[in-house]
Amino acid sequence: MRALVAYESMYGNTRVIAGAIADGLRAGYEVRVVPVAEATAELVAGADLLVVGGPTHMHGLSSASSRHTAAKAAAKDGSELRLDPDAEGPGLRDWLNDLGRRDGLAAAFDTRINGVPAFTGRASRPIAKLLKRHGYRLVAAPESFLVGSQSTLLDGEADRARRWGMTIGAASKTYLPAHA
Ligand SMILES: Cc1cc2nc3c(=O)[nH]c(=O)nc-3n(C[C@H](O)[C@H](O)[C@H](O)COP(=O)(O)O)c2cc1C
Repeated sequence: MRALVAYESMYGNTRVIAGAIADGLRAGYEVRVVPVAEATAELVAGADLLVVGGPTHMHGLSSASSRHTAAKAAAKDGSELRLDPDAEGPGLRDWLNDLGRRDGLAAAFDTRINGVPAFTGRASRPIAKLLKRHGYRLVAAPESFLVGSQSTLLDGEADRARRWGMTIGAASKTYLPAHA
């Protein structure tokens, strides 16, 4: 049984959460965790469970323009933000739009600022919507992992992500009775 965790990350928070989710999934899956630039159609096709996440930008899914803004903010003199090695690659929005149709299992997550979702927005919602539009069934509600004002993950969020990975791994098995 294979799971693929595909993520976009500009500053590293979503990458860390993706890795923690992958650790949780390893209880029941052979797991690959890759930035969307490396999440090829072949890897997607070989996955029994697809887990997709990205940063919340402008209340939703990142765009070419919000990714550009994020890169510019990191390049400013005195900025403590560091761009991830894969930050300049293709974004999650394009990757999701190009995702083939498949009757597969999936889950969506994001990272976002700690606050009321009605004000912060949550990228996991549009990610989940696009996954469903491509034929995927969601094994869990979209989930957010939180950062503080300095754009660093709050204490305990990586542990919570690992537990969420275990939970969605177990939930997904109920959709795959032949393999349980
Ligand atoms: C251009 C830009 C727009 C953002 N907009 C939002 C937003 O609308 N709501 C929110 O909760 N966080 C917002 N954030 C914060 C990011 O979601 C948060 O820092 C996230 O953890 C970044 O993930 P990354 O480190 O994987 O890039 C924004 C960040 C950037 C750079």
